Amino acid sequence: MSIVDTARQAAQGLVQGALEKLVPLAPDNWIPGGKPDPLIARKHGLIGQPVSRLDGSLKVTGAAAFAAEHRFDNMVYAALAYATIPRGRIAAIDTGAAEAAPGVVLVMTHRNAPRMAPPPAFGSSPTAVGPADLPILQDDRIHWNGQPVACVLAETQEQADHAAALLVITYEAEPSTTDLAGAKANGIEPGLFMGQPLLNEIGDAEAALAAAPHRVDHIYRTPRHNHNPIEPHAATLAWIGDDLVIHDASQMVTQQAQTMADVFGLRTDQVRLTSPYVGGGFGSKGLWDHQVIAAAAARLANRPVRVALSREGVYRIVGGRTLTEQRVAIGATNDGKFEALIHTGLTVMTPHNAMPEPFILGTRAAYAAPNMLLKVEVARMNMLANTFMRAPGEAVGTFALESAIDELASDLGMDPVELRIRNEPDADPTSGLPFSSRHIVEAWRRGAERFGWDARPATPGSRQDGEWRIGMGCATGTYPYYRMPGAEARITMTRDGDDVRAKVEVAAAEMGMGTATTTAIVAAERLGLPMERIEIGYGDSAIPGAIMAGGSQQTAAIGAAVIAAQAELVTALLKLAGNDSPLAGLSADEVGSDAGALASLAEPSRRESYVSILTRAQRDSVTVTKAGSMPLELMHWSMHSHSALFCEVRVNTVTGETRISRFLGAFDCGRILNPKTAASQFRGGIIMGLGMALMEETLFDERNGRIMNPSLSEYHLPVHLDVPEIDVIWTDIADPHTPMGAHGVGEIGITGVAAAVANAVYNATGIRIRDLPITLDNLMR
Ligand code: MOS
Repeated sequence: MSIVDTARQAAQGLVQGALEKLVPLAPDNWIPGGKPDPLIARKHGLIGQPVSRLDGSLKVTGAAAFAAEHRFDNMVYAALAYATIPRGRIAAIDTGAAEAAPGVVLVMTHRNAPRMAPPPAFGSSPTAVGPADLPILQDDRIHWNGQPVACVLAETQEQADHAAALLVITYEAEPSTTDLAGAKANGIEPGLFMGQPLLNEIGDAEAALAAAPHRVDHIYRTPRHNHNPIEPHAATLAWIGDDLVIHDASQMVTQQAQTMADVFGLRTDQVRLTSPYVGGGFGSKGLWDHQVIAAAAARLANRPVRVALSREGVYRIVGGRTLTEQRVAIGATNDGKFEALIHTGLTVMTPHNAMPEPFILGTRAAYAAPNMLLKVEVARMNMLANTFMRAPGEAVGTFALESAIDELASDLGMDPVELRIRNEPDADPTSGLPFSSRHIVEAWRRGAERFGWDARPATPGSRQDGEWRIGMGCATGTYPYYRMPGAEARITMTRDGDDVRAKVEVAAAEMGMGTATTTAIVAAERLGLPMERIEIGYGDSAIPGAIMAGGSQQTAAIGAAVIAAQAELVTALLKLAGNDSPLAGLSADEVGSDAGALASLAEPSRRESYVSILTRAQRDSVTVTKAGSMPLELMHWSMHSHSALFCEVRVNTVTGETRISRFLGAFDCGRILNPKTAASQFRGGIIMGLGMALMEETLFDERNGRIMNPSLSEYHLPVHLDVPEIDVIWTDIADPHTPMGAHGVGEIGITGVAAAVANAVYNATGIRIRDLPITLDNLMR
């Protein structure tokens, strides 16, 4: 289950009843039963303006307090010890030396930890975000190599780290499965997302493949990836009586607070979790064992605790992307039309979690084919629970699919851009739904022209510059549009001299991508106020509603809530305005916000300023809270962000080294709300994709399930010198069926990038690499 599929299924489940009596939406309207939103179709006000991050200066000056920078009086520091076997039990723990070490306040193991419920696993309820259904520090069982087995609290971090190193832990190993062959031999299961099978069968794909005049049929492999946000995971927390206050690094603030409440048997309002600043998440900034252990230790020691994972700690307890083995087979006619599209394969997860890497998701709506077979299967291994990582499913699935299309283009002697355009579907090939907004061909055409695609050498290995071979490749990305239900916005409008200010609060998470800024743009636009008069509240579980920075859907969810709350505010202000107002007699849907005032939509000169309404009503402020509409648009349309990606590489014939020399992403993601932060999202995703293509690989010791490269010195990521200037352009065509006309921009960036690189490497060298990463040893042939 990716976060995004959770959204879709939650949406579908919640609207099931509504759907039965649903009147079809007007084609230009995303608000069921409402009127077309005039603001979607055109650019207006701040929408589309490049606005810098509002918290940028706080971050660069160090004034923004991240999770590990909060401080409580009397606080102690936590260090964790991690198991060194993949499965078995703890035979003995000698805590004597650790307890006697300087500064030590507490050594907590399963023997003295308070009793706690296992965190409800992600997907088991709308607010459950536990990594797996395992109890934490409650028994002597070991489930993965790296599992936390003890926590030391001390007066300084150094003292805690030192004491943790003095623990003497012995284990009784039990039979385990830590290699892929063994996992397969144990049995293969169908992949399930929230009970939904990862399976699509249309027609008879195998028969159509066998009968097709042109065929490609290959296996592609992607390795494990670990999460490496620049800010390692951390929390600073304290018990205030029976209430728990947590300053965390979270992309799912409300849900994490609720899950902590479930673990400790607390009421929802007894846990307050804040997370205003997060140094990157990418799917990993959720609940893992460290927050639970720190809260338990804080209770036992009766002291506030800071737990800041070392980089190695992040590798031991924060799950990453799991490995895949994928088959893609395409059968095509002589003119390149797909007759059969097969995308099947295997992914690995633990016996205790439910996150099969859903690599077929992007294939479902990518290309037209009368016969399709899409299937994900799962094998189980004793390892850390894997999780979401930027475009879970799509990032690795498009590597296989888009490589296979390049292979077919090469067999057919056809331009790979034209082959893709030739197989553009008219409607969603698996759901049958119409597309809400799909301008991928325009992205292809504009991208190809700007990149100079026509200079691509048709023959692989034919362009050389000294000892470098040069090639170009391309790929498509698709990432679904989602919008989770549950988002609310609270607007408080306050008199401020002869003007007003507005505070807009949403239970959203900001990982650094610009959520607060984009929310301010949307709120300012809707309220008709300048951005300086708007304050955004977010990243705090005390704010009503529940949003999540996941599945590239948060901005749409926030937008829908802000739009709904603005409408509610109009109603409240009209009531306050009363019969003496020029607006008297107008209903709320005849009135809009405009330049610090409410104004008649039909007759804008009929208006009254916000401050005048509040003053006449003798009110200092007015507050409204409203939930966004149900995401019914998901039921009517197949909705996606799209990309057309172009890559140029130089491969050294002497060393095998691959350098990316140029990259261009042409995106079709609806209306771009803030070009500055959107461009950063696209570029960041592309850079992550370059790492996936050429460098990233978790080295997993198949003998014992130990991650062997748990540091940034041995786990390679792109650095500045690895990244060329990345050109990003977009269609900026608003989707009339979404709030603000926007689609997500967070995860589409990485999607397809690894294939674009692999296809460029093939074009440069004639060597087809089907296993990531593309390292130089594979090119030294
Ligand atoms: Mo994302 S993997 O939904 O943070």
